[in-house]
Amino acid sequence: MKKLVQLEINGEIFDVAVSPTAYLVEVIRETVGLTGTKKGCGIGDCGACTVLIDGKPTLSCLTLAIACQGKAITTIEGLSQGAGLHPVQKAFIDKGAVQCGFCTPGMVLSSKALLDENSTPTEDEIKSALAGNLCRCTGYAKIIEAVGYAGKLLKGEVGDE
Ligand code: FES
Ligand code: FES
Repeated sequence: MKKLVQLEINGEIFDVAVSPTAYLVEVIRETVGLTGTKKGCGIGDCGACTVLIDGKPTLSCLTLAIACQGKAITTIEGLSQGAGLHPVQKAFIDKGAVQCGFCTPGMVLSSKALLDENSTPTEDEIKSALAGNLCRCTGYAKIIEAVGYAGKLLKGEVGDE
């Protein structure tokens, strides 16, 4: 039997009826209709389903939706600033770190969480923060470069290209 829960997603409250066994990725995509969050493997291996829960990268394919009541969920749709892109999103585009884009929402959210804590990460720190996010397209060099560049954008050390 479904249960009525309140989820805070991108600062908005959604009242949704969910099965106690429903995973957050399904509720976000199918019930709430925010399809930026991707479902790849569905078993915790690829990171495509990453969202932020209370600011921490979390695999939404392994997280029960009912366990997320009272927590702040951020999806890729919640990152843009008005009509503008978040600096991490902009950096991924500017540095060519996006091809098919399937991994990108998870990559961007994991990168944002890293940069929130450490605005000047080393290459090893970036690799470690993104270790759970797999990309089949770009290789990782451009993604790592994009995260470093995003840190500079966030600190205003570089302007728009
Ligand atoms: S879909 Fe969640 S880790 Fe792959
Ligand atoms: S850009 Fe295609 S999986 Fe990463």
